[in-house]
Amino acid sequence: MTRINQTRTRIGIAIRTTGFALGFGIATTLPGHADTASCTVPDIGDRITDAQASALYECLTAAMAAQLEMLESGGTIDGPSWLRSDMPVARAFLGWESVTTAPYESGTHGGRFVVNLADPVALPSYSRFEDGGPMPMGGILAKPSFTVSDDGTAALGPLFLMERAADGTYPDMGDWIYSAIMPDGSVMGPTGGPQNDRVQFCADCHLAIGADTDSMTYLPDEYRVTD
Ligand code: HEC
Repeated sequence: MTRINQTRTRIGIAIRTTGFALGFGIATTLPGHADTASCTVPDIGDRITDAQASALYECLTAAMAAQLEMLESGGTIDGPSWLRSDMPVARAFLGWESVTTAPYESGTHGGRFVVNLADPVALPSYSRFEDGGPMPMGGILAKPSFTVSDDGTAALGPLFLMERAADGTYPDMGDWIYSAIMPDGSVMGPTGGPQNDRVQFCADCHLAIGADTDSMTYLPDEYRVTD
């Protein structure tokens, strides 16, 4: 088990808005850390704190950054990881910006802890939330998720994804391509593929809640990164 001490927790919060560059650095200096099942915080009590949720998320992404380095040098990875999928986004999201100050519990995504990230195409508008207007074609939003057991250990959930397609491409889905990468590397969706029906429920909810915001639903005010 990787035990996260107070210092690590504070680092986790400090780098939250600056991306994952530091995460890569940490990962390469911790042998054996390429294991997403070993992220744990002690003494979670009745409710996990924002600092503890942040520390777990940093640990999970650092583990995947270490796995990515192993894959790129010709190695293989064990255990739960979105990197087990062939989808390029499973790698790319590790470098995207978060618009979330700390992982929050999302009742609409199975009560899991989630973070919202935007790729470089999506970031300029998505980081302005409701003021950002419709998403440009090709913009991708990612929502990593995890659960936390009673003993404070994190487990990866799905990596939820939305990519804006061209206007008129998928009218039933609000012109978004929905998918979710599971921790075993299998993929639910995407829109337009053989499993199209399995992600229709994503679109139905997003179209309803995001009727005036191009299907985007953002995140609670208290967890938004603002300038
Ligand atoms: C019952 C409603 C509901 C369902 C079903 C749902 N979502 Fe969401 N989704 C939301 C809400 C509400 C938010 C923002 C608040 C939050 O994170 O809880 C959100 C946020 C997101 C975001 C961040 C982008 C944004 O909208 O601001 C992504 C990506 C996402 N969901 C993907 C998915 C995928 C993929 C599925 C299906 C596998 C799915 N969602 C199913 C309601 C839903």
